[in-house]
Amino acid sequence: MKAQQKILPDSERLIEAAAEHFVATARSAIAKRGVFFVALAGGSTPKGLYQKLATSPYIEQIDWARVQIFFGDERCVPATHDDSNFKMARLAMLDHLPIPPENVHRMPTESGDADEVARRYAETIKSVLQESPFDLVLLGLGPDGHIASLFPETAALEVTDSLTTSLFVEKFQSWRVTLTYPVINAARQVIVFIAGEAKTEIVRDITTEAVTGLPVQRLAPTGDYYWFMDKAAAAK
Ligand code: 6PG
Repeated sequence: MKAQQKILPDSERLIEAAAEHFVATARSAIAKRGVFFVALAGGSTPKGLYQKLATSPYIEQIDWARVQIFFGDERCVPATHDDSNFKMARLAMLDHLPIPPENVHRMPTESGDADEVARRYAETIKSVLQESPFDLVLLGLGPDGHIASLFPETAALEVTDSLTTSLFVEKFQSWRVTLTYPVINAARQVIVFIAGEAKTEIVRDITTEAVTGLPVQRLAPTGDYYWFMDKAAAAK
């Protein structure tokens, strides 16, 4: 599935372009349906975008009371743990937004083992979204081509009968919970957000198809699909 590529000269312009795009997507969803359902990416790349969205003029341009925030994946650690994607997003953005706490749906990693967390989160998604798809799923790209916590050669890649799944990630020796392909592909829009020279090789290998079958290459969004990159990531 080919994405529309947006390549910005540097990370600051990338963040500004992504923030403007996020605002436009949110405003359009709210204007049409009165709500914006978004799943945030974890990792380090999106932190700058989250910080930007929590500052003027962006923060005033979204009616945050009409935004329902979810997460594309989570590490099975307490919400206070430094590895928590929720904690990263909370400190970078959520704590600074005029958003009702009940609109922020973190994965309840304290509620039991990874399977139980995945099961509960799928229930939360269903109860909040009802029959609606996500308006936007924001993803980062791992150097091995993973997105969310859909890591290469894991059974998570084959799950098609639930919105979420859990997996033990050998390389990190940690349990994770992730959205699955069906719910990501059903989104009205998917953005893969890639920055920095650490991603140059993986971006080159994917766009030249020197490698195939990586998790990001198995994405098949039914809606709009973008790669937002800075020049460093797209250098080759
Ligand atoms: C996570 C993320 C993961 C991340 C990529 C890229 O929980 O780690 O969801 O999919 O987006 O690994 O991470 P960086 O942005 O830190 O390079």
